[in-house]
Amino acid sequence: MASILICKPIGTILDEAGQEGECTLKRALGVLNLIALGIGAIIGAGIFVLTGSAAAQFAGPGIVISFILAGTGCLFAGLCYAEFASLIPIAGSAYTYGYATLGELFAWIIGWDLILEYAFGAATVASGWSANVVQLLARLGIPIPPTLTDTPGTDLAFYNGLWRPAATVPAGVNLASLPHVTAVFNIVAFLAICLVTTILVIGIEESATINTIIVFIKVGTVLVFIAVAAVYVSQHWAQAQANWTPFVPPNTGESGHYGWSGVARGAAVIFFAYIGFDAVSTAAQEAKNPKRDMPIGILGSLAICTVLYIATAWLLTGVVKYPQLNVAAPVALGMEATGVAWGEYLVLIGSIMGLSTVMLVMLLGQSRVFFSMSRDGLLPEWAGRIHPKFRTPYISSITVGIFVAIFASLIPIGVLGELVSIGTLLAFVIVCAGVWILRRRRPDLHRPFQTPLVPFVPIMGILISAFLMASLPGATWLRLVVWLIIGLGIYFGYGRHHSRVALASKK
Ligand code: ALA
Repeated sequence: MASILICKPIGTILDEAGQEGECTLKRALGVLNLIALGIGAIIGAGIFVLTGSAAAQFAGPGIVISFILAGTGCLFAGLCYAEFASLIPIAGSAYTYGYATLGELFAWIIGWDLILEYAFGAATVASGWSANVVQLLARLGIPIPPTLTDTPGTDLAFYNGLWRPAATVPAGVNLASLPHVTAVFNIVAFLAICLVTTILVIGIEESATINTIIVFIKVGTVLVFIAVAAVYVSQHWAQAQANWTPFVPPNTGESGHYGWSGVARGAAVIFFAYIGFDAVSTAAQEAKNPKRDMPIGILGSLAICTVLYIATAWLLTGVVKYPQLNVAAPVALGMEATGVAWGEYLVLIGSIMGLSTVMLVMLLGQSRVFFSMSRDGLLPEWAGRIHPKFRTPYISSITVGIFVAIFASLIPIGVLGELVSIGTLLAFVIVCAGVWILRRRRPDLHRPFQTPLVPFVPIMGILISAFLMASLPGATWLRLVVWLIIGLGIYFGYGRHHSRVALASKK
């Protein structure tokens, strides 16, 4: 029993974090790269897609409050991540923080749980990305055979110039009168993941440079929307005020359907939009000066995105009355409503760019967590091998890439968005608890960045994360439990017997 709760000594972790040389990851990232990695992972489907449906179905204009609530929870968690990432700047992120504080079993659970965030997150985003690309290519007159644009068995209907899942054709349209085909494979999502994986294998510098360029474009897109919508709202102030009234529409009697419970449900849904700032911490061993730059990367990217999100949500609900926002591309709809004809294209391109870096940083995070787990013996040795020339964990990246590509192209993953959120929230709870535990256990450690107001901030991080988890449906909880049980089977079948920390303690 004792061996499964063994903690990895902080001294060992610090030694590993400080290693340099041929068989180690390459230290190439400066502070701008790290902030861009965070923004690269954060801005994506959440803001471009979920904002609309969450406002229409759950919170109304109160979605702005949902964004503030979820952003506050992330701020508390982000402050805890920042302390850990500067104290033990190591690629394993939450997995290693758990190993140092709560013991091996919890570390494994969190490492396994992070697959939900990073690998499943990348797969979810890949399918959204493919829908956007197919739409753009169709608008440009470059059609892709519809059978190759979605997961097997999806019923696609041709409506309004586009092949789309029949389930998303607006109500009231006679489905039987439309042409139908059944999809067999999502080649677009498959190729997207293969391309991103190739970039990741080639090098961290190359990956970071591409990410930074794309991040400028996608932040630019969001800023253009904010500017255009702000001008529109200032010129149509009475209309905007009418759209914002009532700001929190009265509850319909059903929990989560408007009212304050709707604001909470909205926060749990749009929490997805914030996921990713923590992925910066998985790049700790590739940062030039992690002790100083990690907190800036994590908190800087989170702060920038929070401001952009709140402004976008506020203006969007001012431009378009919330019941009309339940569409696949609400930000594009907002642009269109302002009368800007090129808006749809701009937002489409911004989303495609945006989602591509989410995939990039998520897959980066996943391969680094596997790299760390392998170095600890909890996964096979090959997962931790570094390419002699590229200095990336190439086998881990390629294996993750193949699985995620197959997953994204064959399995319908609509329901998995909430699984990604619950997995991430669980990691937040453990990281917040870990900061508090380590403060009590090792107050002597030099912490380059200190989470303020401990234990208040960790407790608030735990409470808000737990509250958001509780706002997710029971089916999502069930999937989480099943996933963790599978993980425990693997740990007791393999990891436990190969753990280097446990073996070293027996010597
Ligand atoms: N935050 C990321 C997105 O919204 C996962 O796509």
